[in-house]
Amino acid sequence: MLPRVMPEIAAENGFRLRRWELTDRELLREVSVDPYIPLITTVPAPYSDAEADAFVRRQWMRTEIGTGYPFVIEAPDGRAVGNVGLWVGELPLRGFATAGYWVAAGARGRGVALAGLNAVTAWALGELALPRVELFVEPWNAGSLRTAEKAGYRRETLVPAYQEVAGEPRDMWRFALP
Ligand SMILES: CC(C)(COP(=O)(O)OP(=O)(O)OC[C@H]1O[C@@H](n2cnc3c(N)ncnc32)[C@H](O)[C@@H]1OP(=O)(O)O)[C@@H](O)C(=O)NCCC(=O)NCCS
Repeated sequence: MLPRVMPEIAAENGFRLRRWELTDRELLREVSVDPYIPLITTVPAPYSDAEADAFVRRQWMRTEIGTGYPFVIEAPDGRAVGNVGLWVGELPLRGFATAGYWVAAGARGRGVALAGLNAVTAWALGELALPRVELFVEPWNAGSLRTAEKAGYRRETLVPAYQEVAGEPRDMWRFALP
């Protein structure tokens, strides 16, 4: 039985993973104007305080109902700079969890995504003892491909039309660990 509460997890270089809080509005405001993040998440765009609060409550619910674990990635100075999620809803059916991540544009290129993905992967395969974690990345997304590879994920197959993004089916590379 997997936990139905969010742990706090220490990550490399002083980063920390924690649950979403209603005080994380600034991060949601920043990423609401990102050209890609709202397309692949339920981050509200356009931004409003009410939609931001609803987003945070949805994240809490995902853990309560057993769908997964959406973590804020917090920098050493306490700023919320990104998100890394571990999704376990289909684990009983498919035998693997999936992971996903995004980082606010102003915090990119400093190891945030890698720290977040390393920490959540170690927790998933270690403490939760999950058999396998997969993640899916579009072929043009050099930063995400590199992050997955640096975290030790193996690039397996280019899955045709894996997911609809902005109303279009998109091919995605499947990565997996172990
Ligand atoms: C992809 C993304 C998460 C990377 O976050 P980040 O915090 O900047 O990544 P890191 O700093 O941890 O970098 C990890 C590795 O990727 C490389 N990298 C990051 N962005 C890159 C880019 N745009 N082009 C090429 N390499 C890049 C880094 O150089 C680093 O490799 P290195 O140590 O060999 O130099 C971020 O750009 C983002 O949020 N993009 C929009 C959302 C998204 O695409 N999410 C992933 C969906 S699958």
